Amino acid sequence: MNATLYIVGTGPGDPQLLTLKAAHVIRNSPVIVAPRGSRNCPSTALSIIEQIVQTGDKTVIQVHFPMKKIKTGREPDPEVRAAWNFAAKQVLHHLERGLDVCFPTLGDPAIYSTGYYLYDTICAIKPEVSVRFVPGIPAMSSCSAVIGEPICLGDEMVAVVPATFSDERLRDILLHFDTIVLMKVHRVLDRLVELLGSIDLLDRSVLVERAGTDEEMAYTSIESIKRPPHYYSTIIVRKNGNGRRPMVHKRSTGSRSNHSAESAFGLTTAVARRSSRI
Ligand SMILES: C[S@@+](CC[C@H](N)C(=O)[O-])C[C@H]1O[C@@H](n2cnc3c(N)ncnc32)[C@H](O)[C@@H]1O
Repeated sequence: MNATLYIVGTGPGDPQLLTLKAAHVIRNSPVIVAPRGSRNCPSTALSIIEQIVQTGDKTVIQVHFPMKKIKTGREPDPEVRAAWNFAAKQVLHHLERGLDVCFPTLGDPAIYSTGYYLYDTICAIKPEVSVRFVPGIPAMSSCSAVIGEPICLGDEMVAVVPATFSDERLRDILLHFDTIVLMKVHRVLDRLVELLGSIDLLDRSVLVERAGTDEEMAYTSIESIKRPPHYYSTIIVRKNGNGRRPMVHKRSTGSRSNHSAESAFGLTTAVARRSSRI
């Protein structure tokens, strides 16, 4: 088998954050197998790359990966296992015909991505398969850029965790690390607000929603958010932040105000909104 599977990070949303290498690999892959989180919505990773690379002449297969908790070392939900197997078979089918396959994945494949589960599943079926990884810009880097706050400096320690951990586990992490990046916050925001408030970290927490897209928003008063945020939301808790707060984007076309966000969510602190592509 001469063909290669490329597991490619697409960055978090802004197509300009797709790396040159990612674009090159995608352009040269005749087959794209793209993950989607819902049966009814198109793949986000695919929609990012389609803004940069023509896919009309490629075979494009979208595979639904159910969003269920996966615990390291434990067998996943059967639906999840079935999705990994299905994707692996699609990939192998094309590799066996000598066609390179690209599997685009949001952000970086090394961070909470389906890419490595697919890799493991394929290796279990055909260990000699050729697989290459192309890193991408992680969502947390894009969120950090939105709010003008570093993730770590000097001797600071960072934890990157799903916010779906138990309160007890999260509390330990929040107490122990200097910066905590909370991912997958969308279903547990109320619980997080309570927890962060109980250890006096609410004023150190910023939620960034859909970084790098036209809907990008940053919220400093996360306790004021009145609706579940989008799945593409991340909270950065930085204990040593020096008061830097979400910046209004200064773009050549000028900044747009956030009136629509204020009226929709009753917020006065949602200050960053993407106005146009740089
Ligand atoms: C399955 S993880 C994927 C992480 C991705 N591999 C990375 O490198 O960032 C999905 C989580 O990433 C975060 N995320 C992804 N895209 C984002 C975006 N555009 N803005 C803010 N957070 C985002 C959210 O916390 C979301 O729940």
